Amino acid sequence: MKIAILGAAGRMGQMLCNLASQNPEFESVVKCDIVDGYEKTWPENTDAVIDFTFHSAVPANIARAVETKSAYVLGTTGLTAEEEQAVTDAATKIPVVKSANMSLGVNLLLDLVRRAAAVLGTDYDIEVVEMHHRLKKDAPSGTALMLANAAADGRNVKLEDVACYGREGLVGERPEGEIALHALRGGSVVGDHTVMYASNVERIEITHKAQSREAFAAGALRAAIWAKGKDAKIYSMRDVLNLND
Ligand SMILES: NC(=O)c1ccc[n+]([C@@H]2O[C@H](COP(=O)([O-])OP(=O)(O)OC[C@H]3O[C@@H](n4cnc5c(N)ncnc54)[C@H](O)[C@@H]3O)[C@@H](O)[C@H]2O)c1
Repeated sequence: MKIAILGAAGRMGQMLCNLASQNPEFESVVKCDIVDGYEKTWPENTDAVIDFTFHSAVPANIARAVETKSAYVLGTTGLTAEEEQAVTDAATKIPVVKSANMSLGVNLLLDLVRRAAAVLGTDYDIEVVEMHHRLKKDAPSGTALMLANAAADGRNVKLEDVACYGREGLVGERPEGEIALHALRGGSVVGDHTVMYASNVERIEITHKAQSREAFAAGALRAAIWAKGKDAKIYSMRDVLNLND
């Protein structure tokens, strides 16, 4: 198939170009970026466009994808409400896959966590533990929050009603149904996440360890292959991975 990579000079774009060039599925890869030395647009017969640029670039990019009737994989994050609306409007004309985390492993993990929480119930205490490098500025990580939300969703509760962010001092007994999050920081860890379900008789732990940004790029390429020829609609990585049952 024929694809275009938008933001090809960026960190994610370079990774995507590299991976796509090694995959025989992609017979042509148009590398687009606003910086010199890259294409500025892509031709009519492009099957899918992968966007890892900047939020304000998305409305014009997706408008061009509508013109070229290309499937659109949106990895770019931080869109304003107006930019989101441009995506929603375009998705009435072309298939759009949109996810803030395109990693296959994390999307599968979210599904496993939700299902486990639903099956195990509140006899199993849920603790989410993440570890990242010492330079990370926010805590807990966005992915840890997604995991805790997935667990809450599995139990049919809202995370804000049951969340506990770390513990210190005389905090008392653990309330039933609590979902706790803990952030560890140190060294150069790219991103580890573990969700624990602890009962009186056993403990289940589901762990994901990220090793490189390649995980996001591989997911985006998989989404592009999947989206080719699909009906016009907004899809998520759950659809791409067939996790909707
Ligand atoms: N969904 C995911 O899984 C995921 C993973 C990582 C990053 N991201 C997001 O992807 C985006 C890019 O991340 P990055 O780390 O590669 O950023 P980056 O700054 O390294 O690269 C962005 C590139 O886009 C180019 N660009 C800007 N406007 C453009 C336009 N109109 N047309 C073509 N190219 C344009 C820039 O010149 C730059 O080369 C960010 O929004 C980031 O949050 C998403």
